[in-house]
Formats: sequence, C-alpha cells, structure tokens
Amino acid sequence: MTDTVLLTGATGQLGTALLPRLVAHNGTVVLALVRGRDAAEVERRRADLVTRCGVPDHRVHAVQGDVSAPGLGLDAAARARVESEATSIVHAAAAVRFDLPADKAARSNIAATESVLELARALHQARRLKRLDHVSTAYVAGRHTGRFHEHDLDVGQQFRNTYEWSKLQSELRVRAAIAEGLPISVHRPSIVVGEAATGRTRAFNVLYWPLKIYVRGWWRTFPGRPDTRVDIVPVDWVADAITRLRRLDDTLGRTFHLAAGDDARTVRELAERIAALTGGPPVRYIDQARYRRFVRPLIWPFLSLTRRGRGILRGGEAYMPYFLGNPVFDTSSTRAALGDAGSPPPVLEYLERVVRFAVDRDFGDPG
Ligand SMILES: NC(=O)c1ccc[n+]([C@@H]2O[C@H](COP(=O)([O-])OP(=O)(O)OC[C@H]3O[C@@H](n4cnc5c(N)ncnc54)[C@H](OP(=O)(O)O)[C@@H]3O)[C@@H](O)[C@H]2O)c1
Repeated sequence: MTDTVLLTGATGQLGTALLPRLVAHNGTVVLALVRGRDAAEVERRRADLVTRCGVPDHRVHAVQGDVSAPGLGLDAAARARVESEATSIVHAAAAVRFDLPADKAARSNIAATESVLELARALHQARRLKRLDHVSTAYVAGRHTGRFHEHDLDVGQQFRNTYEWSKLQSELRVRAAIAEGLPISVHRPSIVVGEAATGRTRAFNVLYWPLKIYVRGWWRTFPGRPDTRVDIVPVDWVADAITRLRRLDDTLGRTFHLAAGDDARTVRELAERIAALTGGPPVRYIDQARYRRFVRPLIWPFLSLTRRGRGILRGGEAYMPYFLGNPVFDTSSTRAALGDAGSPPPVLEYLERVVRFAVDRDFGDPG
C-alpha cells in the first residue's frame, strides 16, 4: 500500500527538508497540515512548498489546521479526509520559541502532541496506522549534565525555558502511548543549522544569534566557558536520518538522538573557526558569574534604550544558556540503526557554508 503521510510542520525548517525526502520514496503522498486564514491561503502555502521543494504537485496535498487547537483544528471534512487517507504521521510542528509563557508553550507543544496521539489512536484502531514519527529535541535533557541516553527522559532535570519543558512533557505522553501499543518512534535532533551542502536555512536562531552579533561587531566578549561543547547538526542530515529510520520496522517504540554526541565541538573551536572565516578578531571570554555580577548591571540599562540593544538582551537571555554547559547526547541507538549514516558530518567541515549563507542573507533580517 502506498504511504500517505500526514506531515505537521511542513512549512518549517525541518519540514521543508523532510517533504522532498518523504515524497521521493515509493510514490509516497504527503498530506500537509498547514495553518492559514482560509482555504485560499492554505492552497497558496501548499503551492509555494511544492515549488520550493521541487516536488510533483499531485504528491502534496494540504489540509487546513492548527495543531494547538482542539482536534488539530481540522474541520469535519478535513478530519474525515485524514482518517480515510493517512497511513502514517510525521509530527514536526512545534512552537520553537524559548520565551513563550508556559500556557502558550503547553498549547503549541503538549496539547498538540496529545491531539496527534488521539488521531494516531483512531488510525491505529482502524488498522490504518503504520507509524507515527514524533520529532522531539535532544534538549528534553534540559540542564542535565553528563551523558544523556536515548532511553533517558525525566531524570529530574531542570529546564532552561518553557520550550524544553513542553517538549519533555510531550515526550512523556508519547512514551505512554507507546506503552499502550501505538507504533511510534521519537527523533531528538540537537541544535539544527542549515544544510551541510549549501548552508541554506529558513530559521536563524540559536547558533546564528552569537554569530550575528559577532559578525556585526556588536559583541566580542563571551560570558561563558570556552570548553563547553555545543552539539550542532545540519538540517539535511537530520531529515535524511528521520526518513531512513522511519523505513526500519525495528525503530518502533524507540528514541533516537540525531546529534553529534561525542563528536560535538567546543565553543572555543567554533569561535576560532568563525573568526578565521569572517576575518574578525578573537573572541574574549569572561566568567559567567563575574559577567552577571559586574558587567550585566552596567550594560543592561544602556542596551535597553535601543531596539538593537533590546534584541541583544533578549537573544542573550534565550540562547546564551546553550553555550554555558550541555550534556553529551549518547547516540548509540541511532548509530546502531543507521551505521555510518547515523553520524552527522563534522561541523568544522561545513561551518563555512553555514556562516556564508547566513552572512549573505543578512541573517534573514527584513532589511
Ligand atoms: N530548530 C532546531 O534547532 C530544532 C532542534 C531540535 C528539535 N527541533 C524540533 O524540530 C521540529 C521542527 O522544528 P523547525 O526547526 O522546523 O521549526 P520551525 O522552522 O520554527 O517550523 C515550525 C513548523 O511548525 C509549524 N507550526 C507551529 N505551530 C503550529 C500550529 N499551531 N499549527 C500548525 N503548524 C504549526 C510552523 O508552521 P507555520 O509556517 O504556519 O509557522 C512550521 O511549519 C520541532 O518539533 C522542533 O521542536 C528543532
């Protein structure tokens, strides 16, 4: 039977990489759940996706929905269509924002996952569901230090933000559904950047934030530890890994870190390479406690005066914690399942393309 995949998050950074890879396999059809004010906007977004991804028009359909709304925001006709056509689900939609209040993060991520699981249950009971692939994040590990395994979940960790917390809560619900017998795999990427081959990306967050203020000369002193490892993976590799893993039956019921793991590079290594690539001066480091106690109180009132300054402060609060200390993500299951394809390309080999793309596109700033 040809696979018809209900794909949430098709318009996002990962979704646009997943879509062509799903469609490339054995006549697979994608039913994309897309947000829009009305049917016309949903169709415009679908057509745009088809063009952008270079996929055959007749293999990508769209249903209007909103994953944070009850029943995924599907009207009766759309729900009936999904129930009669979908044979699998890839849930990649999420509010990937670190500054959301807990109730909003809960709606966009936890309630959305619950609705996806409710749909999966209905498809499973109708004996239609081959599998559900749930895209989570390696940062469900939160502030856990040391090694975090693929089978680890709630280990009593604290969280840097409501995003991490809401993704952990989502995974807890997914684990419960796996225990019920639903055929589900969980995929946990680390920090996703542009394509290794081209640097292309649609989202300029996390790594791009310190890169941007460094390149623009707004910031050269890093309030953190140069020996912190930062786990970075390119979006094309993540999409390849998910599409490969979902073709393997023995991946059901299991969790996969899509991460560099032991090969993650340190802040110092990344900063030195970025300085060499951009011709910028070396990054200076300042101890975090000292920064918070002496430097931050001095610069805070000054930065709050301007839009750019406020942007730097907001970005700093959101993204800096990812450069101050991280777990090592154990990738044993991914490597065992995928062999050589289970390891991402080394970041220092493709970082130049990521940096060039971001600089050429002015970090996606509207100008
Ligand atoms: N980016 C990373 O570094 C990273 C790392 C680890 C894991 N992940 C996970 O990977 C997945 C994809 O992330 P991404 O980087 O592709 O994020 P992204 O570029 O921000 O895309 C998010 C996608 O989710 C959709 N979406 C958000 N809220 C929705 C709603 N209420 N209803 C329907 N669609 C909604 C967005 O649709 P619109 O186009 O309508 O906004 C978009 O298609 C997420 O589950 C994320 O947690 C990402």
